[in-house]
Amino acid sequence: MPNVISMKKSSDKKPAKTSSTQDSPSAMKVEFPILSGTIGPDVLDVRSLYKDKGVFTFDPGFMSTAACKSAVTYIDGDKGELLYRGYPIEQLANNAGYLEVCYLLMFGELPSPKQLEEFEDTVLSHTMVHEQVHTFYHGFRPDAHPMSILCGVVGALASFYHDSTDIHNPRHREITAYRLIAKMPTLVAMAYKYSVGQPFMYPDASLSYAGNFLRMMFAVPTQDYVVNPVVERAMDVIFTLHADHEQNASTSTVRLAGSSGANPFACIAAGVATLWGPAHGGANEAVLNMLEEIGDVKNIPSYLEKVKDKLDPTRLMGFGHRVYKNFDPRAKIMKENCDAVLKELGVADPALEVAMELERIALSDPYFIERKLYPNVDFYSGIILRAIGIPTSMFTCIFALARTVGWITHWNEMIGEADQKIGRPRQLYIGPKRRDFVPLAKR
Ligand code: CMC
Repeated sequence: MPNVISMKKSSDKKPAKTSSTQDSPSAMKVEFPILSGTIGPDVLDVRSLYKDKGVFTFDPGFMSTAACKSAVTYIDGDKGELLYRGYPIEQLANNAGYLEVCYLLMFGELPSPKQLEEFEDTVLSHTMVHEQVHTFYHGFRPDAHPMSILCGVVGALASFYHDSTDIHNPRHREITAYRLIAKMPTLVAMAYKYSVGQPFMYPDASLSYAGNFLRMMFAVPTQDYVVNPVVERAMDVIFTLHADHEQNASTSTVRLAGSSGANPFACIAAGVATLWGPAHGGANEAVLNMLEEIGDVKNIPSYLEKVKDKLDPTRLMGFGHRVYKNFDPRAKIMKENCDAVLKELGVADPALEVAMELERIALSDPYFIERKLYPNVDFYSGIILRAIGIPTSMFTCIFALARTVGWITHWNEMIGEADQKIGRPRQLYIGPKRRDFVPLAKR
């Protein structure tokens, strides 16, 4: 016997009541089955609503809508909790490496030592890209934003791999996931090298995933490059913290693009495009720009006045989150990571002083307290990345690199569902009613 809830359709302004038997526009009794997950709020199953009652639900921004079932990642926004396949992010960031986390996300369980070794070998031995990919880069202006390059080259990978395009074959999907996770650091590092006019560095499979990425970013053919283990570990933790975040805008975009049966590389390119925006992955770049604009702690009060002014569009970048109404657990780990990197590299970044004071003042200000606005993952990540030597314009590419495992895992989960359907939202139409065409001469 399914659980049911009864609701009455009401006008916009009046609260819903629950007792009516008539099916008229002003009063409608609707019964919804309730679905329960393993944790988290129950959901009303409204799938038959239109078929049964001829009405849609209205939820722009998906404020109350679960668009899919998923077993990958869980967030409790009030508690500030993030679980990958059930494991808390703090435990994973402190005890596991990024590729171990990738295995967990992709396959659902932590790997055995042998499984991890095989996984790492497979990923690290597929990090090269086709030589012809190099020519794509030369088609971009050297001052192109690296995210624009990444959108293009990730989509272009679709034209290179014709041996595994059957999305309904689980082995083909797995090969695609390996390729993307392996090649993304190479593509990101190439975007950087192209922007500074240095030769592309080929990957080195003897290094760790993070170590290889750092080498491809910062080594030049004329000199040996030694990976700093503290920076390597920090990079690895940054990757882990960004690996997945359930149904965010870019992941939902990848799912929607993939729901039509599109090529997976093209779907991931759509995820890269969505991530670019400053409300999403572009926030880490925006945070650093903001800290630089503030410049000095003495300018914080006037900046916060701008942020709180309803008529001013300025937002405190790196603050607030659709789901977290408490500390973003990733921000805490990122801050610890930030301290370790700055100490190791002996960097005294004035932006850190501004960031810490901004955080302190904002967290005691009623505007932020009332709206439950806390620092998110992007608040400190930019300061670490800058200390490592990564330019601001590359920050979102690093996020994309790390999030690729999440995107492809969700894509794979969706395509593997027995009742997978193309995503097709409906609308509340507010345009003109039907009207007849007026010839040009009569207008
Ligand atoms: N600074 C100032 N006010 C804010 C901020 C902010 N960063 N975020 C939200 N608010 C206010 C907003 O003005 C609104 O106030 P009021 O109720 O008076 O109208 C209230 O808080 C609710 O905001 P909202 O826009 O309805 O919340 P949302 O869930 O739609 O937005 C967000 C979430 C992340 C887009 C938003 O908090 C934001 O723009 N933050 C800054 C950008 C940022 O740091 N993004 C990274 C998110 S974490 C990484 C990722 O997911 O990619």
